[in-house]
Amino acid sequence: MCGIVGYIGFREAYPIIIKGLQRLEYRGYDSAGVALLNGEMRIYKKQGKVSDLEAFVADQPTSATVGMGHTRWATHGAPSDRNSHPHTSNNGKLSIIHNGIIENYSSIKEEMIKRGHVFNSDTDTEVLIHLIEDIQEKTNQTLDESVRIALKEVVGAYAIVVISKDHPDEIIAARKGSPMVIGVGEGEYFIASDASPIIEYTKNVIFLNDSEMAIVKRDSLVIKTIDNVVQDPYIHELELQLEMIEKGGYEHFMLKEIYEQPRSIYDSMRGRINSKDGFIGLSGLNEYEEKFKNAERILIVACGTSWHAGLVAEYLIEDYARIPVEVEYASEFRYRNPIITEKDIVIAISQSGETADSLAAIELAKSKGATIFGICNVVGSSIPRASNAGAYTHAGPEIGVASTKAFTAQVTILTLLAWSIGQKKGAIKKTRLMELLSALEAIPAKVEKALQSNDEIKAIAERFKDAHNFLYLGRGYNFPVALEGALKLKEISYIHAEGYPAAEMKHGPIALIDENMPVVVVATKGTILEKIISNIQEVKARKGVIIAIVTEGDVEVRKMADYVIEIPETEECLVPLLATIPLQLLSYHIAIMRGCNVDQPRNLAKSVTVE
Ligand code: M6R
Repeated sequence: MCGIVGYIGFREAYPIIIKGLQRLEYRGYDSAGVALLNGEMRIYKKQGKVSDLEAFVADQPTSATVGMGHTRWATHGAPSDRNSHPHTSNNGKLSIIHNGIIENYSSIKEEMIKRGHVFNSDTDTEVLIHLIEDIQEKTNQTLDESVRIALKEVVGAYAIVVISKDHPDEIIAARKGSPMVIGVGEGEYFIASDASPIIEYTKNVIFLNDSEMAIVKRDSLVIKTIDNVVQDPYIHELELQLEMIEKGGYEHFMLKEIYEQPRSIYDSMRGRINSKDGFIGLSGLNEYEEKFKNAERILIVACGTSWHAGLVAEYLIEDYARIPVEVEYASEFRYRNPIITEKDIVIAISQSGETADSLAAIELAKSKGATIFGICNVVGSSIPRASNAGAYTHAGPEIGVASTKAFTAQVTILTLLAWSIGQKKGAIKKTRLMELLSALEAIPAKVEKALQSNDEIKAIAERFKDAHNFLYLGRGYNFPVALEGALKLKEISYIHAEGYPAAEMKHGPIALIDENMPVVVVATKGTILEKIISNIQEVKARKGVIIAIVTEGDVEVRKMADYVIEIPETEECLVPLLATIPLQLLSYHIAIMRGCNVDQPRNLAKSVTVE
């Protein structure tokens, strides 16, 4: 939540910062601001999108080779010009941008007010710049030392950048619990919440660790801990390409990411399987093979769409590896005093690898001795770094706030994980594994086929775009698909939608059904199809309108459904990889027809780095 960009070097800072903020806008988009240092400190900030800020700054002077920018997702203080970052010290010399939450801000604020500081916003962030100013005035310390001392007093999460009029050739950056990447150029440095603002200038980056700060000058970089221990940073070479973070001719990132799924699913399994030999190679599993084989249970922690992928994994791991699984909302788990032992394996699933609740959940599990296996998309993010082992999903950058290709990539990896443990335990025969793997290899082409229903789905979207409620039903492997379909619709179209296990409907939600209620039923071929057909009849008997996702060639469901969308046939456990596709497209088209901003839905942000 919130995106930050900083630059120091020989180029004009403003265009780099604005372009960077546009790339980071997925992290928050209720206001934006920049600070530029060139003899004086110029600050421009505005409620609204980065484009509103750009329009506001259009006629203003922007020349500077040092600067920073921020795009906000409000926590403390409503979105407004005055609450937008950067925030400035009372002497007008210091300025700060911040991503995170300063939890003890009110006690610091009280103290600062007592000491004569005047506050100009309702944010938690502003206390920090007053504190830094106060330390500087009291102790006459250098800028970096004042920031360091101030950070020792802060409780909470932060990624900050600070600049000072008195130190025109220096930027101070620091992080704890919020991500920060430093791009290393020649005679220039870039700072950002993720690598996307940096990659067109340099592929060499340093991922700042928690409780580290960077003192950045044009020709030098010093990294030390908040406890003042100088570090020897590791420079990573990024594999990210510029085209991966651009729309590539699609109208929206979400649509591009939906259409990328044949490729992203393929990339998730690339080099990891060989159906002819019945081979699965998840290198992260190697060291923990015995642990997984002997596990008495597996806990899965995640949020949102990643939690839905975790539910699919519950079915997969119990079916194929025969290990009991519990899937937990990370936000509940972390505060529940859960029973965790050293025997437990905790799988954390996260696209961003930065979700605060998931991170806290694994820290808790780790402190009790559990082994953490992280499944994440963003390379170098916090969750993989906090895990004992794991696997990257390799779906490529996901920029649309609604998660699409990350989900199918997570399910792909979880499938491999379940089968691999099953194989190691002798729970799956080699011939069966070969069959399953070749079914998985066929999935990208089948996703391609599922995407060909786009026009039919668009027509269905036209018919239902004005509905007030939707019900999504599924059973077995398709129950998490129903949840995911409902989440996609509500988050981007603002239509109320509920996902339910189909049979559970008669314990309450059936009361909602009338002729105005669209009911999306995932009714694909499998062991439980007969049962779900009965559930469809229950809906029809109450005049509900059925939109059914069925397997190619289906005749039974078609007789009852009002609208039918076909997907290719596959193994039952792989159906979520196909059935999710039409539901993503349905949400996308409905949201577009309702005039919603699908890539940046209201009130949301891509990575939820606050609890
Ligand atoms: O980055 P993560 O996978 O940890 O994010 C978890 C959720 O915040 C995320 O899936 C969210 O629910 C998406 N907006 C769903 O589309």
